[in-house]
Amino acid sequence: MNDNWKFAADIDTVREQGVAGFYIEGHDVALYAVDDTIFATENQCTHGEARLSDGFLLGDEIECPLHQGRFNVRTGAAMCVPVETCVRTYPVKIEQGRVFIALHEETASLPRG
Ligand code: FES
Repeated sequence: MNDNWKFAADIDTVREQGVAGFYIEGHDVALYAVDDTIFATENQCTHGEARLSDGFLLGDEIECPLHQGRFNVRTGAAMCVPVETCVRTYPVKIEQGRVFIALHEETASLPRG
C-alpha cells in the first residue's frame, strides 16, 4: 500500500454517525457516509472557526454549524452564502471495512460553487 494512504476510521463508525471528525497525523478530517460510500474533506470551514463534522449532513451536502454555509462533500464546492471558498477534499478508499484517505493528494478541485 502506498504510504500516502492513512487509516482514518472503520466504515461502520462513519455510517453510524453520518458525519464524523478524526485527527489523522495532525490533520483534522471530516468523513461523510453518503450513498453507500465515504467522502472526506478538511474539517475546518473555509468561512470561520467551525468544524464541519459538528454540522448537519443533508444528502451530499454538509451544513456548517456556525453560519449554515454548505459544501458539497463529493467535490468540496461551496454551495451557498456565506461560504465562498471550496473546502479541500481527499481521495478515499475502503478496504475490508476500513476507510483510508490520501492525506497529501487533493481530488480534482472545482471553482467556487
Ligand atoms: S464558519 Fe462556516 S459558514 Fe461561517
